[in-house]
Amino acid sequence: MADSTRPLLSDFNSSESNLPPPRSLEETIERCIGDFGWAQFLQAALVSFAWFFDAQQTFITVFTDSQPMWHCDNSDRVDSVCNTSSSNLCTLPNQTWSWDLNPHVSIISEWGLQCAGSFLKGFPASSFFLGCLIGGLALSTLADSSLGRKNMLLLSCLIMSLSSMLTAFSTSIWVYAFLRFLNGCGRATIGTCALVLSTEVVGKKWRGQVGAMGFFCFTLGFLSLPMLGYINEGNSWRNLYVWTSIPTLIYCCLVRSFVRESPRWLIVKGRKEEAVSILQSIASNAITMSFTNLCFEIISGNGGWIRYRRDALIGFTALSGISSALIAVLGQQLGSLQIVLELVSFFSACTAFNMTLIYTIEMFPTCVRNSAISMVRQALVFGGVFSPVMVAAGRENQFWSYGLFGLIIGLCGLFVFGLPETRGSVLCDTMDEEEYKTLAKRQFIGFIVFIASITLLGRIFSRPSKTKDRCRQLPPGRPGWPILGNLPELIMTRPRSKYFHLAMKELKTDIACFNFAGTHTITINSDEIAREAFRERDADLADRPQLSIVESIGDNYKTMGTSSYGEHFMKMKKVITTEIMSVKTLNMLEAARTIEADNLIAYIHSMYQRSETVDVRELSRVYGYAVTMRMLFGRRHVTKENMFSDDGRLGKAEKHHLEVIFNTLNCLPGFSPVDYVDRWLGGWNIDGEEERAKVNVNLVRSYNNPIIDERVEIWREKGGKAAVEDWLDTFITLKDQNGNYLVTPDEIKAQCVEFCIAAIDNPANNMEWTLGEMLKNPEILRKALKELDEVVGKDRLVQESDIPNLNYLKACCRETFRIHPSAHYVPPHVARQDTTLGGYFIPKGSHIHVCRPGLGRNPKIWKDPLAYEPERHLQGDGITKEVTLVETEMRFVSFSTGRRGCVGVKVGTIMMAMMLARFLQGFNWKLHRDFGPLSLEEDDASLLMAKPLLLSVEPRLASNLYPKFRP
Ligand code: HEM
Repeated sequence: MADSTRPLLSDFNSSESNLPPPRSLEETIERCIGDFGWAQFLQAALVSFAWFFDAQQTFITVFTDSQPMWHCDNSDRVDSVCNTSSSNLCTLPNQTWSWDLNPHVSIISEWGLQCAGSFLKGFPASSFFLGCLIGGLALSTLADSSLGRKNMLLLSCLIMSLSSMLTAFSTSIWVYAFLRFLNGCGRATIGTCALVLSTEVVGKKWRGQVGAMGFFCFTLGFLSLPMLGYINEGNSWRNLYVWTSIPTLIYCCLVRSFVRESPRWLIVKGRKEEAVSILQSIASNAITMSFTNLCFEIISGNGGWIRYRRDALIGFTALSGISSALIAVLGQQLGSLQIVLELVSFFSACTAFNMTLIYTIEMFPTCVRNSAISMVRQALVFGGVFSPVMVAAGRENQFWSYGLFGLIIGLCGLFVFGLPETRGSVLCDTMDEEEYKTLAKRQFIGFIVFIASITLLGRIFSRPSKTKDRCRQLPPGRPGWPILGNLPELIMTRPRSKYFHLAMKELKTDIACFNFAGTHTITINSDEIAREAFRERDADLADRPQLSIVESIGDNYKTMGTSSYGEHFMKMKKVITTEIMSVKTLNMLEAARTIEADNLIAYIHSMYQRSETVDVRELSRVYGYAVTMRMLFGRRHVTKENMFSDDGRLGKAEKHHLEVIFNTLNCLPGFSPVDYVDRWLGGWNIDGEEERAKVNVNLVRSYNNPIIDERVEIWREKGGKAAVEDWLDTFITLKDQNGNYLVTPDEIKAQCVEFCIAAIDNPANNMEWTLGEMLKNPEILRKALKELDEVVGKDRLVQESDIPNLNYLKACCRETFRIHPSAHYVPPHVARQDTTLGGYFIPKGSHIHVCRPGLGRNPKIWKDPLAYEPERHLQGDGITKEVTLVETEMRFVSFSTGRRGCVGVKVGTIMMAMMLARFLQGFNWKLHRDFGPLSLEEDDASLLMAKPLLLSVEPRLASNLYPKFRP
């Protein structure tokens, strides 16, 4: 698997080697791209230029839809009924008047709309704004989700330019209005994408200035229209649409060729390599430009007054509101001062709006930034809908225009009070990061005020009424907020699992109940209650949570592990337990597993020959991957590349496959607050986690599915193979009593992904910790080696058939499971009906979480629980009674038990025991000098060893016993 600790851009760190390692993605990007260079300037300028065309299309109707001047014909005649200043055009006979210019200068004169109602005349403009609203709603999230910033910008500009070109050929007001609607749809997302894309490629210092570039281009676009209008004077309005659409089309080509996608967005989408190459190309051009900087400072006005977003927003909205309100109150008395106040109000409102855009960019993370900006712009359009009404009403009474506007803008500014200052802050990429950052700064006042106010209203109603009957009483828990329950506290505690640990300690309980936005979450630290849950009440608690993320990973709950306890689950469980994991099938696959056990030895031996350091985590993941792939697909290679590598390491594609398998595994639900409000959000990807899961699981599928499709075709269409050779063949060929295939290709594909993510992680984690503990306790290592030498000897390699006799070795694996589980909790079970646990009431739908360290490290269950003592798992003389890795008593968790217990117990046991036995038998291990003192610290959040275990290796057996790599 690719090393997750490797710097993103190793080549670019060299010159900054004296700096501490970057702490965040923002810092990494800042360091890579430097201060501000030509590449960023050109990119920002090109992208911002989109605003120019945006402005042209927004205001073009001022010139094309205006009512032209007209005059009376023969007005010098005494009997003329026409008078330009007093006559109503619509009551005059046609032959008495004419347009001043060619009637084709405006749609009004060309289509004779001068007497049409204001609805028809204003219809094209309204259609345009309606298009802006609908386009903004429909398209804006695409830039955050699938399309990305660049493609969205390109698409929007294309829609806008093509619809503008077609508008030039409109045959009626209706066609014209429809094309303006399309134009509005395209235009809606341009400013948003341009702003987000240009600000995401520069460092925080330049964000404000780059944002201002867009506003500058917008003004230029606006100013270009009178010039075009002047050149076109007396000619058809259609020219204006052609003249504005052609440059936009050329602009699209430039965007396509020269604009680069936002590296932030690519990283959030898991497209790390593309992001790295873009950062590299920016970095290689990152020559600081003092001249451009200077111009830029001048153009964008980097005045001190604009430095603080929040204060500036409050200041400008207040200034605009007060100026406007003064006009409403003092009215006529102001005289010429009114124009000054109007200017101040207009200028302040515009600056406040621009500031809101920059503020929004800095406040929202990459995964939703585009959507957030789009909302701000939608609010602008929404406000624009009311402005004509306010203006009209203001003609009668100034309060309805100046007064109302002053009040609204003044009050809107006050909303900013609860929000944090963002200037110079780090741009976050996910909701989680953003949330964490905000919490760290303790600027959560607005949120707290909100929560506090609903508390006052609803606290009384939120608590379940206490009852003397314990069977109707929930397990102990912390008092919660109304509606959200304990969710705010969960949000504020990192890592999340710590929240339960601290709360249960404080409550002095082994079973607790937390309410997360209406979901009862039951946590268990007692073996007795865990046994009750997974044995006695197992049938009541056999569902899995229905969360969007689980749905994505399980391809709509097609797998056994993600499906609810029902018909489909039963079918998959039957297939897996009686066929896939049957003794017959596992025996058939022994040869495949042995090849990989040999390859493991071959790989380590080749590392010894090259004097390489062994990273135990990486090596054990490679082994787990290779065995799983061979059992599943009959081969360890997903591509032909590196097929014939002679040392056992994975090829590029296989490494990537393994990496995305782990990424998918890491997306499985883990107390993310979003999981609990999932049903309210309707799958809205608020923290980017679901999107990340989708991206990664799709990548896993992109490797698996071609193999599965090819095999399905062989078996189901081309007559099959000579024999069933692996799990995939078994899945494909299974038929029911009626001769119909039992498992569909889609179910096979989903289940293969689940096997990939279920099989590799546990053995690898167990292996790393066991070796670490053995190096720390040499006596334990000595005993394990003694057992191996007695049972197997040194003349042959250990085989699967030896495993039943390696009790001490398995006791070590069990002890590691007990102290060092691979996750904090067993995957959640869900109550299918009201039930009880430990005498407490458990409502239907509750999520049940059995805490692995809560059992394994519990002093009530284990004496001296933190001491690593494999002997506690041996019975009698330690030889006669076979040690197994399953723990049905739930005193710790290995494979769990009951209806939802692991289906891979046999094969999982073989993988773990074989890997450890081959490691120990084949080599002498020593801590590598780079690793430092052996501290065996664990990572709080993941429970992995804090630093990957790095060892030096020497062969322990005669050299002829080390096999060669077999592809
Ligand atoms: C090697 C060590 C392994 C360990 C320690 C392990 C552990 C577990 C645990 C703790 C569960 C959750 C049980 C529960 O929810 O109560 C589980 C479920 C599962 N495991 Fe394993 N597993 C291992 C290997 C495998 C392998 C090799 C496979 C298949 C190739 C596999 C397939 C599954 C599946 C499909 C489930 C979901 C069962 C369900 O929801 O009904 N596991 N495993």
